[in-house]
Amino acid sequence: LDRNDMKNMDHSAMNMEHETITELKSSLGVNELNAPKLLKPDQEDRDSISYTVRAQQGTAEIFDGIKTKTYGYNEDFLGPVIRVEKGMNVTIHLVNDLKEDTTFHWHGLEVSGNEDGGPHNVLKPGESDTINFTVKQDASTLWFHPHPMHKTGEQVFKGLAGLLYIDDKNSERFDIPKTYGDDDYPLILQDKTFTADKQLDYDKTMNEDGTTGDTLLINGVVDPKLTVDRKKIRLRILNGSNMRSYTLHFDNGMAFQQIASDGGFLNKPITTEEIEIAPAERVEIIVDLTAVKRDVINLVHQDATTILPIHLKESIDNPQKAKITEPLNNLEISSQVKRKKVTKTIKLAGMGKSVTINNEKYDPNRIDFTQKQNEVQVWEVENVKDAMEGMNHPFHIHGTQFQVISIDGKEPVGSLSGLKDTISLKPGQKAKIAVKFPEKGIYMFHCHILEHEDNGMMGQIKVD
Ligand code: C2O
Ligand code: CU
Ligand code: CU
Repeated sequence: LDRNDMKNMDHSAMNMEHETITELKSSLGVNELNAPKLLKPDQEDRDSISYTVRAQQGTAEIFDGIKTKTYGYNEDFLGPVIRVEKGMNVTIHLVNDLKEDTTFHWHGLEVSGNEDGGPHNVLKPGESDTINFTVKQDASTLWFHPHPMHKTGEQVFKGLAGLLYIDDKNSERFDIPKTYGDDDYPLILQDKTFTADKQLDYDKTMNEDGTTGDTLLINGVVDPKLTVDRKKIRLRILNGSNMRSYTLHFDNGMAFQQIASDGGFLNKPITTEEIEIAPAERVEIIVDLTAVKRDVINLVHQDATTILPIHLKESIDNPQKAKITEPLNNLEISSQVKRKKVTKTIKLAGMGKSVTINNEKYDPNRIDFTQKQNEVQVWEVENVKDAMEGMNHPFHIHGTQFQVISIDGKEPVGSLSGLKDTISLKPGQKAKIAVKFPEKGIYMFHCHILEHEDNGMMGQIKVD
């Protein structure tokens, strides 16, 4: 092969890659968005709270007058928001009312391996379990979803996903929008393809490199629109898609502020006009609508796919929410940690069924790494570039919020300066991250393209 052949091959591989990503339709803007319900606690007192979370099947009216078969937590489709506070003791009763195995994984939560809900913690149909933990993390937007071996992609696709909010005293003082469903709004982005009779047929749409769909649902609503007062709003965006990444901006070109990433608040807001969000990542942004002249602005993906028309009502002056003056967080990476040698190397490689981590596929009986509880280690994670193949891999670690030291030797951009549990790497990119596990147990690390995870692009670490 000479250089030109290589170039051509590269080109056809790229084309192939594009073909596998289904084109996303714009929202017709006909259905008003719903904020998911807040889950009612079974019991609550000053420092403890308990909930029941039930995985179930049902039917949802996603399209007018049509019943679509779905999965959900405590509901027909998707799930409620669970709110817990830092310092609280939390008990969650888990019930599997599905006709198949599932697990309840708390993505981004620092809990012990027993409670984490990875592929080891299977509940069979009809089984239930109880987990208990104390929340030690700061305010953040986390989420939960199933994690059974080879079935995660399908179960999430059918509707199993929900948000887990951690609140804390510190952030309650911040002058930022925080009224749920009013000026503090979650957006769960998920693309799906429906069959002609409007069913979610996973087998028909599944792609080994990540299932993408032509229809974007936000909080389970198809063709969504959002109607709000002309004020400052906070959007907590979760990319709950199997594979698609989103690049979002507003069609009037206005800037907005990112205030939080996966694991909580950034030190200070970052002003930007565009934001990228890979599978499983969360970003929180503050959008100032007070000065917008138009009656409708559109939240747009890539160049021209409107994912959410936002209709503006009268203006409400909330100047008290106009400025963030104090630091939102005080994260730093000590020079001592920055100087540490890399002690774990992760190589992400391949496509489709041949995806691997360090040349191996997930084996439940193999422990790939060990690390001591609370010890900080530097991991180097590389998306290995191959002449023919290449795609982004969003790399995720359970039971920890890590910090990015560098990407390709350079200091990370602002949006990666906060706590992360997932980092998307382009082909050839290499990240150094500082990883600490506050609890003990066996945890997964994996690519969060759900079909890659199901294809074994996953390993496990034992923390003791
Ligand atoms: Cu979102 Cu292994 O998890
Ligand atoms: Cu996770
Ligand atoms: Cu991957």
